[in-house]
Amino acid sequence: MRSRIIYVIGFMGSGKSTAGKRLAASLGWEFIDLDRVIEEKAGKKIPQIFLQDGEVAFRKAESEALKGINRQNGAVVATGGGTPCHDDNMDFMLEHGLTVYLKMTPDQLTHRLLESSTARPLIQNITDEDLPAFIGKALMTRESFYNRAEIIIQGINLDINRLLTVLKEKM
Ligand code: S3P
Repeated sequence: MRSRIIYVIGFMGSGKSTAGKRLAASLGWEFIDLDRVIEEKAGKKIPQIFLQDGEVAFRKAESEALKGINRQNGAVVATGGGTPCHDDNMDFMLEHGLTVYLKMTPDQLTHRLLESSTARPLIQNITDEDLPAFIGKALMTRESFYNRAEIIIQGINLDINRLLTVLKEKM
C-alpha cells in the first residue's frame, strides 16, 4: 500500500473532522485531529494560542504537529482550515499521503459556520453580515492550495463509500 495516511483538507466548517472520523472507522485506522494535537502540545486551546502567542506561533506549531505525526501506522488526519495554506505543508502532505479536499461553496460554508458553536479565532470578530464576504475572499486565496489535493469531493451530503472507493484506487 503506497499511502498509510490520509489528510482531509478544506475550509473551516467543511466537515473535515466528521468525514475523517468516518473514514478512519471504515479503514480501521487511527483518527487524528490536528487542532487537538496542537492544543495538547501547547497545553491550551486554539483561541488562547492565537490570543497569547499570535498566529505566527500557531502556524509554526501547526506545521510541527503535521510533520510530527507518525506515518507508519494507518491514520486519517483532519487538518485545520489554514494548514495547507502555510509553510510547505501542502507539499509535505502531497508527498507523504493522500490528500482529500472537502469542497463547499461560500454559501454552504456561511450557513454551516453560522450554526457552529466551535470557537474560531479567525472569524470571532466578524459580524454575521460580513461573514459571506470574508469567506468568499478567504476561499479564493485558499483554493489555490486546496485544489492541489489528489481527490476533490463535494463536502455536502458526502458519500463516504464513494470516497472510500476513490481512495482505495489511489492507495
Ligand atoms: C483555522 C482553522 C481552524 C484552526 C484555527 C485556524 C484556519 O480549524 O486550525 O482556528 O486558518 O482556517 P478548523 O478548520 O477545524 O476550524
